[in-house]
Amino acid sequence: MVSVLNNVLLEEILQQVRPLIGQGKVASYIPALAEVPADRLGIAVCMLDGTLYQAGDADERFSIQSISKVLSLTLALTRYQDSEIWQRVGKEPSGQPFNSLLQLELEQGKPRNPFINAGALVVCDMLETRLTAPRQRMLELVRVLTQQPDINYDRHVARSEFDHSARNAAIAWLMKSFGNFSNDVQTVLHTYFHYCAMTMSCGELARCFLYLANQGRGLGQGEPLLTPKQARQINALMVTSGMYDGAGEFAWRVGMPGKSGVGGGIIAIVPGEMSIAVWSPELDASGNSLAGTAALELLADRIGRSIF
Ligand code: DON
Repeated sequence: MVSVLNNVLLEEILQQVRPLIGQGKVASYIPALAEVPADRLGIAVCMLDGTLYQAGDADERFSIQSISKVLSLTLALTRYQDSEIWQRVGKEPSGQPFNSLLQLELEQGKPRNPFINAGALVVCDMLETRLTAPRQRMLELVRVLTQQPDINYDRHVARSEFDHSARNAAIAWLMKSFGNFSNDVQTVLHTYFHYCAMTMSCGELARCFLYLANQGRGLGQGEPLLTPKQARQINALMVTSGMYDGAGEFAWRVGMPGKSGVGGGIIAIVPGEMSIAVWSPELDASGNSLAGTAALELLADRIGRSIF
């Protein structure tokens, strides 16, 4: 039987998945991320009219990490012709870990998609070229979409990423060697790490990404952020590449466009209806939140939603 979506249902779902905490691993390759308590668990759902349902630690901010890759692509789509973007980054799943260098060498420095590190770095390179202050512009966008003027970067996390940036720097330099990277590598890495180190709560994430459920029109915006077609295309990319090499499993279990981050957050979209955010810091083998994925699977079942 299909359940009514409300705070009580979300509470029930969190209770059901809480026993999974302890079965995953908090990301530790960036020391600042390993400091986050593993028992945090939150969920929030934002409906098209802005109504927000939430449960658990849905008001606590955490590092959004790779979820920011959707926002950087969105910003790029507002500053570039679509064709300018897609000649520098592909639209195919990579089937490789998010920080892999392997395909880049074989495929002449063109990343498979904008949601792996290489792709996001190319997108940040493009933003560096066309925006005078890319870090400030991102905050302005997110603050409008969430209607929260105090959203900011966690400088401690950004610093920690910068101190462990060898692999991302290698990716950027490899792309430069193929002529697919225009700006100074350190400058672009600085922007990329700050985007990853943005902190938001589940409630804020659900509000922020409502534009993907609402044909490109964000909360608190007069003009649409994206065209309906662009919003649809980002959702398609999230289905194929939003969960790294766990995209197939996620489509099977949850059946919604989704994007994860190693901070343990996941956003998921039901086009035309709602945007959802979950948070549980422990990750599965593919680097996606373990209890978060389980919560989304249960929610999809209980409210009878899937795009398939
Ligand atoms: O590039 C990195 O290492 C991180 N700041 C972003 C990684 C991330 O969230 C990847 N995915 N789940």
